[in-house]
Amino acid sequence: MLRKLFIGTALATSFAFSAHAADVKEVQMLHWWTSGGEAAALNVLKQDLAKEGYAWKDVPVAGGGGDAAMTALKAMVAAGNYPTASQMLGYTVLDYAAAGVMGDLTETAKKEGWDKSVPAALQKFSVYDGKWVAAPVNVHSVNWLWINKAVMDKIGGTEPKTFDDFVALLDKAKAAGVIPLALGGQNWQEATMFDSVVLSTGGPEFYKKAMNDLDEESLKSDTMKKSFDNLAKLVTYVDPNFSGRDWNLATAMVIKGDALVQVMGDWAKGEFHAANKTPGTDFLCYRFPGTDGSVIYNSDMFGMFNVPDDRKAAQVALATATLSKSFQSAFNVVKGSVPARTDVPDTDFDACGKKGIADLKKANEGGTLFGSLAQGYGAPPAVANAYKDVVSKFVHGQIKTSDEAVTELVKAIDDAK
Ligand code: BGC
Repeated sequence: MLRKLFIGTALATSFAFSAHAADVKEVQMLHWWTSGGEAAALNVLKQDLAKEGYAWKDVPVAGGGGDAAMTALKAMVAAGNYPTASQMLGYTVLDYAAAGVMGDLTETAKKEGWDKSVPAALQKFSVYDGKWVAAPVNVHSVNWLWINKAVMDKIGGTEPKTFDDFVALLDKAKAAGVIPLALGGQNWQEATMFDSVVLSTGGPEFYKKAMNDLDEESLKSDTMKKSFDNLAKLVTYVDPNFSGRDWNLATAMVIKGDALVQVMGDWAKGEFHAANKTPGTDFLCYRFPGTDGSVIYNSDMFGMFNVPDDRKAAQVALATATLSKSFQSAFNVVKGSVPARTDVPDTDFDACGKKGIADLKKANEGGTLFGSLAQGYGAPPAVANAYKDVVSKFVHGQIKTSDEAVTELVKAIDDAK
């Protein structure tokens, strides 16, 4: 496991991190929260810790979805230079825990009653071998549409309830001379959108079988082919300059009214919030057509490393602050996500946040809460990377047909397992 984890280290060490001797009164945090909305959310945490006398040592590694950050983290860990904590997604936490480099926050968890307040779906990834190794920060969900309200009014659009409705809406935007769909052509963004397309095309049971259970029959089925065909259809509504575009620039296109809609996780709402935009007035949040009732989730976790004893107090302070009820509300209001605890009131959240909280509860109770394959909660990182790669090759025309796409997907996932 260690070997597998640290492959790529030689490449990663080219990241210029100083071998900073961490101070006992500081929290050193690796993360990929570098957009406007993300930085604003992180400030809430920095301020909370400053009040308790802890300095903040920022280790930001830009790149939405966190691939670059995870490469950098590998290098730090391989060099024995453990941050106090790192932002991580689901299966990555489990990989590091299995490699034996994580700390043990169980005592803090007991004192704070995390077992009772953190949903089981998150505990599956923050508890390893009976020990708390990570503090969940939030719950994001990816099956959302983010729509510019003025553009929607201008084209006379209404909420699309089915995939066909969505296509009709995109056609209206096109006819009005607006870019219908804002997308960033990076593999993780394309795959994040495809998560929703698969759920919409195949329904909840199909999503689970294909994207969480990795059932081969489902992965190569006609329904999966149809999902790729639907993805190809969506890509026809993207502007020609989409390759390589960062996700927050795609969100900015919608905020400015240059584009009608973005399909993205609710971190996009953090950008609307940072731009002082209000749901219902400036923008609209709808579930991806045909997915209402289900939630595809991911959760940012602060993976806690096994730091030397004199740095553990800072780590406990970070973990305690992260899961405090007041922080869970204040941070998630700004971040666009919803709390990682079930007992935080929705009072301070806007309409989209309130819907997000209610949807999560309903999906959790109804068995329609599913891990995002693109966002580290469907399968281990190697499989998720294989998936992102195939989806992206399809979007960019290196894989030409949906027949070929499912064959490549099955093969890539098989190789990665
Ligand atoms: C994270 C979010 C982050 C987004 C874009 C996702 O993987 O869960 O917290 O805002 O990437 O950077």
